[in-house]
Amino acid sequence: MSEITTQVAIIGGGPSGLLLSQLLHRQGIASVVLERQTRDYVLGRIRAGVLERGFVELMREAGCAGRMEAEGEVHHGVYLAHQGRMDRVDLAAAANGATVMVYGQTEVTRDLYAAREAMGGTVIHLADKVQPQELKSDKPFVTYEKDGETHRVNCDFIIGADGFHGVSRKSIPADVLREYEKVYPFGWLGVLSETKPASPELIYARHERGFALCSMRSQVLSRYYIQVPLTDNVEDWSDDAFWSELKARLPQEVAEGLQTGPSIEKSIAPLRSFVAEPMRYGQLFLAGDAAHIVPPTGAKGLNSAASDIYYLYHGLRDHYQNGDSAGLDSYSEKALARVWKAERFSWWMTNLLHRFPDMSEADLRLQCADLDYLFSSEAAQASMAENYVGLPY
Ligand code: FAD
Ligand code: DHB
Repeated sequence: MSEITTQVAIIGGGPSGLLLSQLLHRQGIASVVLERQTRDYVLGRIRAGVLERGFVELMREAGCAGRMEAEGEVHHGVYLAHQGRMDRVDLAAAANGATVMVYGQTEVTRDLYAAREAMGGTVIHLADKVQPQELKSDKPFVTYEKDGETHRVNCDFIIGADGFHGVSRKSIPADVLREYEKVYPFGWLGVLSETKPASPELIYARHERGFALCSMRSQVLSRYYIQVPLTDNVEDWSDDAFWSELKARLPQEVAEGLQTGPSIEKSIAPLRSFVAEPMRYGQLFLAGDAAHIVPPTGAKGLNSAASDIYYLYHGLRDHYQNGDSAGLDSYSEKALARVWKAERFSWWMTNLLHRFPDMSEADLRLQCADLDYLFSSEAAQASMAENYVGLPY
């Protein structure tokens, strides 16, 4: 068995793991990232597109913001289409000048990989059978297999940033871990296409046929989603069927101007609210999707992962640089307090805009009243805006 020793072993080379590794490196704290897949596989996943201001700040601190600042788009508002109207929430006006950055998760991850490579960071791909061990001792370690051999990483701390299906959360004993879950009775069918976005700002649309979202990655790359039944398969949806369903759910003026083209990616994601507590067990700390999932309405998935990384980064820095473990000791509590607020916001936006199979006339009236209230109250818009741009860490 080959053995290496580091300070922080990070399981998962997605955005959470890479961002933490990069932030720690700049503070002189060593880490090793273990990723099950190849880099191309990780970069092939099309996921989030809207970054909160706090995320943008972390990318700056990680020294990885150059391309994001040059190519990302700062958005000052979002549209909600409902009841034949297009209402805009002026994020900047409602949230003291705060804005969001439209820059894809794929690009964030690409920039983080490039930075790790430039700094000689250790990211081990195709690490199989990764297993965190001795979590309650002060000498934890991680084992994995690669090229037919078993390897061991000795460390002070293990970070479980290995997504919802990873091994880390499952390593916490069942009598310690509590899991809270809500599954929604529909999914999102997403399409990426090399077309001009339908609108300069995102449009979240509530429609009797179901929810739709117009988003983008750049001025030549659009990202669209429609709510679909959980029983649908991607193969059921031709590009033509997708475009015609999307148009049917958008306001007429938007549908008429919509540029269509071949899809370059098409996938269905289920919607779920999920939180695992606590986020620390001994020397293992969970971060990102390993500990929590939100339904995507409101773009809080990647952003909640980033807030975990913020708390972990500060906790580890205080531990190594000042011998102060207070940040690590309060990590689970602090991270969960913010996670539950992101869960609430995503649940609220999902309920506001989707058509649930069992909705009564009363439910529909309540949805309309919620939307009417939002656009008749500056206080309601301020509340939506402060959540959308991201609550403070
Ligand atoms: P991940 O990105 O899942 O990264 C975890 C990494 O760990 C992966 O690279 C995985 O290969 C690796 N791994 C897993 N198991 C192991 C193991 N045993 N050993 C080693 N490595 C392992 N959020 C939004 O805000 N907007 C969206 O539109 C959106 N769309 C999404 C669509 C889908 C299909 C999914 C699954 C998520 C979506 N999200 C979206 C959520 C967002 O992408 C996640 O919140 C974000 O990726 C979390 O980052 P992470 O690094 O914590 O986890
Ligand atoms: C995107 C996804 C979201 O869930 C959202 O709320 C906004 C944008 C996107 O993929 O672009």
